[in-house]
Amino acid sequence: MTFRRLIAIDDLDVDDLQLVLDTAEVMDEISARRIKKVPTLRGRTVCNMFFEDSTRTRLSFDIAAKRLSADVMNFSGKGSSVSKGESFKDTALTLDAMGVDAVVIRSSSAGAPLQLTRHLDVPVLNAGDGWHQHPTQALLDLYTMRSHFGRLEGLTVTICGDIIHSRVARSEIEALNLAGATVRLVAPSTLLPTDVSSWDVEVVVDLDDALADSDVVYMLRVQRERMHRAFFPSTREYARLYGLDARRLQHLPDHAIVMHPGPMNRGVEITPDVADSPRALITDQVNNGIAVRMACLYLLIAGSETQ
Ligand code: CP
Repeated sequence: MTFRRLIAIDDLDVDDLQLVLDTAEVMDEISARRIKKVPTLRGRTVCNMFFEDSTRTRLSFDIAAKRLSADVMNFSGKGSSVSKGESFKDTALTLDAMGVDAVVIRSSSAGAPLQLTRHLDVPVLNAGDGWHQHPTQALLDLYTMRSHFGRLEGLTVTICGDIIHSRVARSEIEALNLAGATVRLVAPSTLLPTDVSSWDVEVVVDLDDALADSDVVYMLRVQRERMHRAFFPSTREYARLYGLDARRLQHLPDHAIVMHPGPMNRGVEITPDVADSPRALITDQVNNGIAVRMACLYLLIAGSETQ
């Protein structure tokens, strides 16, 4: 194991990726027990710092740490001395002085988790930073794909929607590339970064064309909170060209699955009937997020003991 932090997917090599996914399988087995708790991280403290709203990531990091018997400190900007103007550095030094063993951080500022690593000697896990990265989301998605198909190598994954604003897409593309999958992007030109030549992806203009030989269609949320101008003419137009509905679902091969990181805009990027269909593994993704985050916490905290 070579990684000592999880800021971005490029902290992992292919063996690390395999190790996280294999460890998550063990964690999944713990979560299937009647008593869903092991003493592995007893006496260790995990600090969850969430400076941006979250449901899935915040709750699953919380439950993941508790299932490993770690003590958990939950910290948000509101209600802390950050709201009085305390600097990020002083906040980090305060956590360090309290003897935390790992810090999980979500921030709307790209680079905040990396900045934290400069002030802390303990592992830092990025729970999503601005448009930059959301590595545990990508890992739980790959875990979900591997659990379903039994492999990642050779899969064709179509990622559709608001790619420019998506930290999930950035992590997902890197992780799928690492695993040997083919990545295909579909988006309006205004929602694609102007230069994707450094990414190992195919860009397809028409969603219908992309679906026919996809194994996974991964729909992204339209991130209205990050849009300060009109990126497409109307929501109806977007849904017609880039939304996944029952008609489009029929273009997918029978074995193909639908995924979405959540939260969803039902009726925009995905219709409710598709989101609730048996082809959609969206609740599996949420469930797998616990095992994958248990694996990341375990590997990083227990791994740092062997330094
Ligand atoms: N997928 C995801 O990051 O969801 P939350 O914003 O609810 O954590």
